[in-house]
Amino acid sequence: MQRRPTPSRGRIGSRDGETGRATLCGHSLVHTDPVTSLDTRRARVFGNFAQDYDRWRPVYPPEAIDWLVPPTAAQIADVGAGTGKLTGLLLGRGLQVVAVEPDADMLAVLAANYPGAKAEQAGAENFPLDDASVDAVLVGQPWHWFDHELALTEARRVVRPGGWLGLIGNTAFPRTAWQLELARLDPDFAGRTFDEEGEEWEPPGLTGCVVESSEFPWQEELTAPGLRARLATHSAYALVAADGREHSLDEAAAVLTRE
Ligand SMILES: C[S@@+](CC[C@H](N)C(=O)[O-])C[C@H]1O[C@@H](n2cnc3c(N)ncnc32)[C@H](O)[C@@H]1O
Repeated sequence: MQRRPTPSRGRIGSRDGETGRATLCGHSLVHTDPVTSLDTRRARVFGNFAQDYDRWRPVYPPEAIDWLVPPTAAQIADVGAGTGKLTGLLLGRGLQVVAVEPDADMLAVLAANYPGAKAEQAGAENFPLDDASVDAVLVGQPWHWFDHELALTEARRVVRPGGWLGLIGNTAFPRTAWQLELARLDPDFAGRTFDEEGEEWEPPGLTGCVVESSEFPWQEELTAPGLRARLATHSAYALVAADGREHSLDEAAAVLTRE
């Protein structure tokens, strides 16, 4: 299955009215998104399976991180950091990272995995960083869960002049018949269309930003049990009632078994 983390670049106005560059990474999958920014039940489900999330979710390709991180950056806030998928990549580049994550169970896994990061239990809308204290606010996946107005205000507050807000996400990009079959089994499928050309998707809530984007296609191989375990960490599957969930996951894994 091909996945495309899709960066974007642009400008955000800073508090003093100057403009600074913003790097904003969205998804290339064009669909009617059933997720709203204030769907807190979904946004907070991940802590129920923090270890599995950490075991089965992918990281991001190095070229995407090259693009996402400001060239002279030293300090980064990773917001909605989860178990540290993005945090670990940033630390691996010698950057200082403040990992901001509201869920205690997710943050506990992050702290155990990456003791070199400073862990702060807080949400994107209000976190305890000083004004102009980081070179970028980066978000690996969950921008769509945030209150965008508050999160953008908070990013503008903490990012130094010349820094930026960067969003990145991995999105499955189904092309083949079996990939499309798998995608259609997703509980979120209703009403989606999949754009084979990977038409650009601009993340919502970026008022005042000039957005730039880029894509970094990558592929991975998963076994059917691995795919099943991965999908079980997706909020859409996680919130299907227990009996139905097992059935839905079995159906999805069966697509791969038949291939
Ligand atoms: C899909 S995970 C992404 C984790 C990690 N960034 C990654 O790349 O794997 C989404 C994370 O966003 C967190 N989250 C949900 N609502 C949030 C909010 N309002 N502010 C900050 N984080 C939030 C969840 O607790 C969860 O850990």
